[in-house]
Amino acid sequence: MTYLQTTADFYAEVAQTPEVGLCCVQSSPLQLPGLVIPRSMQEMNYGCGSTVHPNELGNNPKVLYVGVGGGLEALQFAYFCRQPGAVIAVEPVEAMRQAANRNLRLAAEENDWFSIDFVDIRAGDAFALPVADNSVDVVAQNCLFNIFEPEDLSRALQEAYRVLKPHGRLIMSDPIATRPIPRHLRQDERLRAMCLSGALTYEEYTQHLIDVGFGQIEIRARRPYRLLDSVTYQLEQSLLLESLDSVSFKVPIPDDGACIFTGKTAIYAGSEPLFDDQAGHILQQGVPSAVCDKTALKLGSTYPDKILITDSTWHYDGGGCC
Ligand SMILES: C[S@@+](CC[C@H](N)C(=O)[O-])C[C@H]1O[C@@H](n2cnc3c(N)ncnc32)[C@H](O)[C@@H]1O
Repeated sequence: MTYLQTTADFYAEVAQTPEVGLCCVQSSPLQLPGLVIPRSMQEMNYGCGSTVHPNELGNNPKVLYVGVGGGLEALQFAYFCRQPGAVIAVEPVEAMRQAANRNLRLAAEENDWFSIDFVDIRAGDAFALPVADNSVDVVAQNCLFNIFEPEDLSRALQEAYRVLKPHGRLIMSDPIATRPIPRHLRQDERLRAMCLSGALTYEEYTQHLIDVGFGQIEIRARRPYRLLDSVTYQLEQSLLLESLDSVSFKVPIPDDGACIFTGKTAIYAGSEPLFDDQAGHILQQGVPSAVCDKTALKLGSTYPDKILITDSTWHYDGGGCC
């Protein structure tokens, strides 16, 4: 029995007996005009953030959703791409596919705009997505990839990269750990399946994305998620998990490294109206300009007296320098 089988068994259990609040975080649910979420679907919200960002979803994108759960986010994506087959949802656990189908049927009764054939639920898993290369605009997964051991995470990310069109987006929400999780917890398969012990640190998580080729990563949210207390989890000190919402773009990695936007800005504090670093960054005097972390570091260290760099807000959703 592998941890992946333990995971499948766990989600078969919670498909049949919903565990309310299994993964959810303190953030208000996405409210959209005319969208009614059936109660049984809400009770099976096993996501730890959100992957549904309206800004990403113009022009009827083709969406591939990995790990459908109770179907909540598949329904929310369908809201933006209202056509048959617009959202392909891949799920290896039969009981979960059945639960999602049931919930989506209820959603069709409660939402005039929604038709059950907008979501195409397919058997399959994150390591062998049942779609062609370069064929979808968005791949999304919520609170699944953190369960994977690092080599499996790389395989799943490579699969997502394979199926995305050039410039396509991988939208993810996962727990991350504020320091490495000790081995005795990482090896606990049930805790891993519950999204409590597989999390990587922020640096490891983003490096995995860069290693498979994503050239730009944007952080949409970073929030406290769970505290692993020292007594229950046999730790020297309690360990905070956070939840991270991110969007990674299938664009080439620039020669000087991937761009990661965490909400930093650069502000020219000199006396001229404009500052030009002759490397593509033009700043207006006194006006914050969004920059990726790599550029923030370069500008801040090269021009410490002229340029102020503001802290990461961990909420970035547009603009940029690269
Ligand atoms: C934590 S739940 C998240 C469900 C959903 N994304 C949500 O936000 O409510 C993880 C989901 O991934 C599914 N899953 C487990 N192993 C998987 C795999 N190898 N590939 C794809 N999905 C998997 C589980 O059955 C479950 O539906």
